[in-house]
Amino acid sequence: MQFQRSVYCGKVNENFLNKEIYLSGWVNKRRDLGSIIFIDLRDRTGLIQLVINTQDNAEIAELAKNIRAEFVISVSGKVLKRSAINPDMPTGKFEVVVTKLTILNTCKPLPYQLEDTDNVDEDLRLKYRYLDLRRPKMQEIIALRDKVIFTMREYFHEQGFYEIETPILSKSTPEGARDFLVPCRLQQGKFYALPQSPQMYKQLLMAAGFDKYFQIARCFRDENLRANRQPEFTQMDMEMSFINESDIQEVCENLLGKIWQKIFNKALKLPLPRYTFQEVFDKFGTDAPDTRFGLEIRDFTKIFESVELSFLQSIISKAGKVGGIVIKNKNFSRSELDKWTEFANKTLGCKGLIYIKFKEDKSIQSSIAKYIPENFYDKLKTIIPDLDLQDTLFIIADDYENAWTALGKLRVELAQNLNLINKEEYNFLWVTDFPLFEWDKQSNKWAAKHHPFTSPAQKDWDSMSDKSKILARAYDLVCNGQEVGGGSIRISDLETQRKMFDFLGIPKKVYQEQFGFLLEALQMGFPPIGGLAFGIDRLIMILAKVNSIRDVIAFPKTQSGSCPMLDTPSIVSDDQLKEVGIKNIK
Ligand code: AMO
Repeated sequence: MQFQRSVYCGKVNENFLNKEIYLSGWVNKRRDLGSIIFIDLRDRTGLIQLVINTQDNAEIAELAKNIRAEFVISVSGKVLKRSAINPDMPTGKFEVVVTKLTILNTCKPLPYQLEDTDNVDEDLRLKYRYLDLRRPKMQEIIALRDKVIFTMREYFHEQGFYEIETPILSKSTPEGARDFLVPCRLQQGKFYALPQSPQMYKQLLMAAGFDKYFQIARCFRDENLRANRQPEFTQMDMEMSFINESDIQEVCENLLGKIWQKIFNKALKLPLPRYTFQEVFDKFGTDAPDTRFGLEIRDFTKIFESVELSFLQSIISKAGKVGGIVIKNKNFSRSELDKWTEFANKTLGCKGLIYIKFKEDKSIQSSIAKYIPENFYDKLKTIIPDLDLQDTLFIIADDYENAWTALGKLRVELAQNLNLINKEEYNFLWVTDFPLFEWDKQSNKWAAKHHPFTSPAQKDWDSMSDKSKILARAYDLVCNGQEVGGGSIRISDLETQRKMFDFLGIPKKVYQEQFGFLLEALQMGFPPIGGLAFGIDRLIMILAKVNSIRDVIAFPKTQSGSCPMLDTPSIVSDDQLKEVGIKNIK
């Protein structure tokens, strides 16, 4: 199959020397030197230089004079060696001397220059996404995404998994976000929900005996968007029967290993390290730590018990904590310290940031210097043996969760600011032993930390008095500070599932109505199961080293959930609303 080309632009090499080829693509650039016109022709594989000798062929010369950037053309010509080699172009040793030229289509003046998009408003880029996607960087990312998804499919088939599609017109699945609702014309007043994940279906596929399932699944969550969140995103979703945590983790690690081999031609060091939730929260103040740099959080509560400062004493007396970060070999200036204090207060919502620096004689320079007891440097040295006089300490006091969460964010900001992150590293790790529940401050009740089908780790979990201590058989896969996957062993018996719903305060009538099908399935020969879902978009972000999830999705939504190209969401006519039984109250 060759269509209107014999070879792609970026694939022209020695094998084509002195041969006649034909190419089709977009005009990347045209340089008119009078007797000679150069055109850089582009397709998805790259660029090749075309040469038109205007004296040789007046007809071609005339056409070439009118060509502008992004015209679509097709040419025939002979491949020759270039006298001026361009080392920046993979095909830079060759050029094609054009003998035939057809303009297949023209292009209006562009809304922005494609090669210079750094200063272009993102909404404008998204409005003309097809132009934006023509850029080589975007083409590379989309090609990478294709390669990763292909590798996933290949791997799971090799491992005996079935790829099974599940419905998009579905019912609410409790993954913790709001649902997108779809009205039903045939049953007015009723709604489908778009799936937040295929969670319920994959559990039922295991009940159906399929044993190993996977799916490249589209998920929909109506939540506040961030740099790594989209309302519509893609998971590599999988589930297995008759397994335990380590089986799932091994299958997923080996998948990553295969992706590494395919993409980087390198082995990924396996098995990946495993840390408990408590370990990572204590050290990094988050359940998705970036371990490419140090700056680990340390507990200074004991040492600050002797500091006679009322706000510290009040926090410590209420079981609060004093945590800090040691920044090695860094003597912050006054204005830098002010900047970090402002960051802690304004961005992290702290009630203050204490800094401590040391003078040559070991005395302290600090916002709270006059309250600090004697020999404080030596006392600190007992718990921080590697402390030096050139180091600075940043300290936050609050209840444990608040203080450590703020320190976790401060840690990342410091590392970025001080250039401590090795961008070439990919630090994957598993986080295990999560709490089963978390206290939801907004609704003032316990909520499932993952989802309510996650199995508790303790058999007697329901009789434990301190609910925050109950652990879940859940695990997350983290890389460079991002959660790229999450999963668990599921509840597979009716009694535990009921207790779980009861415990979450879901009335029996409600859970019976919402999840009656699952409760029934649990009574009809339900196997022990577990699984995981990778966030494909986030994985690609990490592999492609980009900071915005929008850069790895062909047609993403903006931060406010719209698509400037199609202008969605959009108003629909009253007739359409009437048809589905909805009245617009706005
Ligand atoms: P979870 O909710 O942890 O688990 O989602 C799995 C992974 O999906 C990615 N992710 C997102 N990516 C982009 N935009 C979003 N809005 C978004 N939300 C989540 C993350 C996350 O790790 N059903 C369970 C999986 C299971 O238990 O098997 C689930 O969906 O990378």
